[in-house]
Amino acid sequence: MGENLKYVIVDRDENSRDILKNYLSEIGQPAPEAEFFDTEFAAEYIFNMPQGVVFIDISDYPEKSLNLIKSIKERRKDIVLVALSNRASTDVIIKAMRAGAKEFVTKPVIKTEFFDVIEALKADLQNTDTKESCKIISTFSNKGGIGKTSIAVNLAVELAQLTKEKVALIDLNLQLGDVATFLDMTPPFAMDYIADNIHSLDESELLNTMSKYKNTSLYVIADPLNIDKSKEITAEQIKNILSALKKTFSYIVIDIGTNIDSKTITALDMSDLILLIAIVNLPAIRSMQRCMELFEKLGYEKDKIKLVLNRYIENEDIKATDIEEVVKQKVYWKIPNNYLTMMSAINKGVPVNEINPEANIAQNYMEFASKLSDYLITQKLNKNYSTRESINL
Ligand SMILES: Nc1ncnc2c1ncn2[C@@H]1O[C@H](COP(=O)(O)OP(=O)(O)OP(=O)(O)O)[C@@H](O)[C@H]1O
Ligand SMILES: [Mg+2]
Repeated sequence: MGENLKYVIVDRDENSRDILKNYLSEIGQPAPEAEFFDTEFAAEYIFNMPQGVVFIDISDYPEKSLNLIKSIKERRKDIVLVALSNRASTDVIIKAMRAGAKEFVTKPVIKTEFFDVIEALKADLQNTDTKESCKIISTFSNKGGIGKTSIAVNLAVELAQLTKEKVALIDLNLQLGDVATFLDMTPPFAMDYIADNIHSLDESELLNTMSKYKNTSLYVIADPLNIDKSKEITAEQIKNILSALKKTFSYIVIDIGTNIDSKTITALDMSDLILLIAIVNLPAIRSMQRCMELFEKLGYEKDKIKLVLNRYIENEDIKATDIEEVVKQKVYWKIPNNYLTMMSAINKGVPVNEINPEANIAQNYMEFASKLSDYLITQKLNKNYSTRESINL
């Protein structure tokens, strides 16, 4: 964070504005450029301020304050937003994140926590120029019909909505993939065209060739319409496409499917995280074990593989802990069973949060996306999440 970074505080409570000012001064940061009682007065100033950090209290008038966060985020990519609230439920934190807050601080603000936030923001702002910030996340299993596509699609949509950063969603089921169907899209160009032209497409042409999902920052590459074209795509082309996308996108989500061939292995090699999907039954657990053996042969670090249980029902005969014992790895995430919402989403060609954002599965996908995103705020959300006793079915 540069020496002359600007701070602004928007908070109705004078006392809590004073606390923040004191803390800033204690760690040698400059006094805020401005402080506001009201969101309306604040907006005009913040839209025109230099790069900086804005603290916005969302306790009293959450809707107004979240709207302010949203409109700043839309106009000013160089401003970091920190939400403050006297309520720190998962719901409040997720709303703040979705609006565009980078951090969340619970009120009354604890000094050490505030210092940690400032340190984290410093590190984050310093890294933005140099880090390779793209994260590739794949969904895989050697079993069919267990939710690989549902998970890839819903996570990709959530990541885009949550982070507002560019997210690519790629269908590597090159023969008869269904990512585009799940989102009711008919992309004019598919993987075959992009594979053939990847060397000559510049960044904006690449974005124009991919299909933008509604009014979001999600871009999709679907499987070829013609099966013969699928066979012509090479592993080298997949590598080139992923390398090119990494320069533009913050997240790439790949629905790998069930096939193991040179193309899918290339994608798995290049993935930062492989979500190994299973449902809780014996055949699925055995196949999970076989996949783990395969990944070991491929030389992947254990940390790269994340076990995800789909259609999870609490208190079934086989427990998550039984699976952990067999597979010798912790379960990373559980997605609840919710057939009605899922089917309705697939039939309508929309993500589950469009069917019902309050449904357990929609909430779960939001929390999952936040866990996978690099947002600093996520750590807090996940702390909240892990203190819950069980997934709410
Ligand atoms: N959490 C869930 N709760 C209930 N049903 C689910 C859930 N997730 C997925 N399903 C259902 O499981 C079925 C298979 O899902 P999906 O097509 O995503 O699996 P897949 O692993 O991609 O399948 P394939 O191997 O054929 O590509 C769908 O009918 C979907 O509705
Ligand atoms: Mg599928």
